[in-house]
Amino acid sequence: MTKDEAIHKAATIIRGGGIVAFPTETVYGLGADAFNPIAVARIFEVKKRPYFDPLIVHVASHHDLTRLVVEIPSKAIRLMEQFWPGPLTLVLFKKEEVPEIATAGLPSVAVRMPKHPMALDLIKESGRPIAAPSANPFGYVSPTTADHVRDQLGHEVDLILDGGPCEVGVESTIVSFVEEEPLLLRPGGIALEEIESVIGNVKVGSLNQERPIAPGMLPKHYSPRTPILLDGSEEDIARYGNKKIGLLAFCKIKPTLRFSQVEVLSEKGDLREAAANLFGALRRLDASSLDLILAESVPEIGLGRAIMDRLRRASSIEELRQ
Ligand code: TXA
Ligand code: MG
Repeated sequence: MTKDEAIHKAATIIRGGGIVAFPTETVYGLGADAFNPIAVARIFEVKKRPYFDPLIVHVASHHDLTRLVVEIPSKAIRLMEQFWPGPLTLVLFKKEEVPEIATAGLPSVAVRMPKHPMALDLIKESGRPIAAPSANPFGYVSPTTADHVRDQLGHEVDLILDGGPCEVGVESTIVSFVEEEPLLLRPGGIALEEIESVIGNVKVGSLNQERPIAPGMLPKHYSPRTPILLDGSEEDIARYGNKKIGLLAFCKIKPTLRFSQVEVLSEKGDLREAAANLFGALRRLDASSLDLILAESVPEIGLGRAIMDRLRRASSIEELRQ
């Protein structure tokens, strides 16, 4: 099948109420017609995702957007002009027609125009916005290759479009415009600094809210099955004795300890490269029957903010201390 034939087939499936995994520049998504509540419900079933966790609706044009949202604040328009297509999701007040299942009953909808050409072609050819979370079982690391999707959800989706490895590698940045001030709900593929250079100060959503607005904000999320310890001390590690420990290093390897396996995110210490490698490296470590993964912090600037956010959520330090 050629690429065009695959996209055509995928679009036919979407129009018929099926679900398709497709590449975006951030991570692979699991998509359905956003206006077909039954198709959207299947996404929740396949992912075992709780229904209170709303989806991002992907668009390919301004016309798609007008079907979803009522009015767009000027700061949101400036961000779209600057960063779309790209790894930025905006939360805006929704039109009534947008099915409640896609937004978990909220009065708002999360929208994004992805940059991957296959994603854009799929949305255009389907002729409708596509609701899509990341194509992983709920709570697990997001997929950055078609094989990652095949491994975990291969039997449950109608088609997987293979667009190669994702260029950005962490999910989109989410900014909400439903409060008085723009609010960062999730750090991601566009750095906060870049966003603030366009619209000025953005409030940063707090993790300690009683009920998180974006469940991607739940403290424990994006988690491999192997326990992860962020910046463990030598004593922490000593408690693991002879067990198998893997290292997720930022750019250089700790010479004092012996590891069963090492993944280096970016030899040259480049945060973009590190973000692109993060989920693949976590998956490889998770597949190596280790007792513990030791993860090193990265500088919390630019894309480092998204990397640290995912590492903190993936780390199971509380369990280790029990
Ligand atoms: O890069 C990405 O954003 C990828 C690709 C596939 O586009 N998608 C992705 O989707 O990461 P997902 O479902 O894994 O994460 C979407 C996040 C969730 O944490 C959800 O709670 C939040 O967006 N969200 C969706 N709609 C929302 C809304 N109306 N208000 C607040 N948060 C919302
Ligand atoms: Mg996700």
